[in-house]
Amino acid sequence: MSLKKVAVIGAGNVGSEVANQLVSKELADVVLIDKLGDFAGGKALDILTSASLKNSSSNIVGGDDYSLIENSDIVIITAGLARKPGMSREELVEANGNIIAEIVKNVKKLCPDAIIIMVTNPLDVMTYLAYKISGFKPEKVIGMAGVLDTARFKAFIAEELGVFAKDINAMVLGGHGDEMVPLIETTTVSGIPLKQLADDKTIERLVERTRKGGAEIVGLLKTGSAYYAPAISAVETAEAILKDRKSILPASVFVDGQYGAKNIYLGVPAILGANGVEKVIEFDISQQERELLQNSAQAVKNTIEKLEEAMGITQ
Ligand code: NAI
Ligand code: 2OP
Repeated sequence: MSLKKVAVIGAGNVGSEVANQLVSKELADVVLIDKLGDFAGGKALDILTSASLKNSSSNIVGGDDYSLIENSDIVIITAGLARKPGMSREELVEANGNIIAEIVKNVKKLCPDAIIIMVTNPLDVMTYLAYKISGFKPEKVIGMAGVLDTARFKAFIAEELGVFAKDINAMVLGGHGDEMVPLIETTTVSGIPLKQLADDKTIERLVERTRKGGAEIVGLLKTGSAYYAPAISAVETAEAILKDRKSILPASVFVDGQYGAKNIYLGVPAILGANGVEKVIEFDISQQERELLQNSAQAVKNTIEKLEEAMGITQ
């Protein structure tokens, strides 16, 4: 069986679990890269020797040599710093900006036809940076965060109502920051509107917990941030592309006027398939949700401006 090739850059907590899940699900042959010498090679060998026990024929290699990523179909970028307790994702902007710029130059040179899935924070800003530096078409550069934030929202609703999270249909839009927008009006449990199953105060608490979901885990872990749910969310995004699924997923995509936001990357629903972002979906949300989304878009725009100033990038 011939599998597509996925490069995972950064073999830390998120990257190594992404690689592990890609192999476990036999979705691709994987290349794992990290700047730390043999580290990625060690992770790759560990995952490779687990493959037969997972009934997977995926191959995986790792190292610090970028030539390994040549001709990858998808590049998932997880390299960079993770936040510490008390830190916001936006505080990572300059340090991670320099790391992402260097990585994306290699991607552009070695796999000019790849689709980039960004994971590194601050997510929407790093995705925008990858788009700018790569010169790739916007539909080939995608940020992963909405799938994760939505999974958290569903998990918290499920826990509160005592129902199965898989039965919940929901979406979290906006930037991957404290201003993210869990949609309420369209959230259902097996078709039943959430608003008929929980009162306003409960829903507000679930929304707040979702917005702070990453920080709640950082606070418990003390070192590093979440990685099991982030990794499987990145793999879900990659799977939609690898299998040309045409899934509508919340993803950070280039917006050109949709939801009143322009020339930034923002979490909105999009059809993901073999060509990357095949369509950005704009649908009617409530006036209040639209205002919250614009507020979130403004927060992303502010951080992009901060990054462009720090890195000397012009529009
Ligand atoms: P980690 O610290 O465990 O791993 C990061 C890895 O990147 C390290 O192994 C490091 O050596 C490597 N690295 C740094 N610079 C590099 C370079 N120039 N080339 C190659 N590798 C390099 O961090 P973790 O937990 O894996 O998080 C990674 C990033 O993902 C962070 O920015 C974090 O905030 C972000 N994140 C984003 C999420 C999202 O929803 N978009 C969810 C979870 C994490
Ligand atoms: C998260 O939400 C840190 O962005 C990462 O867990």
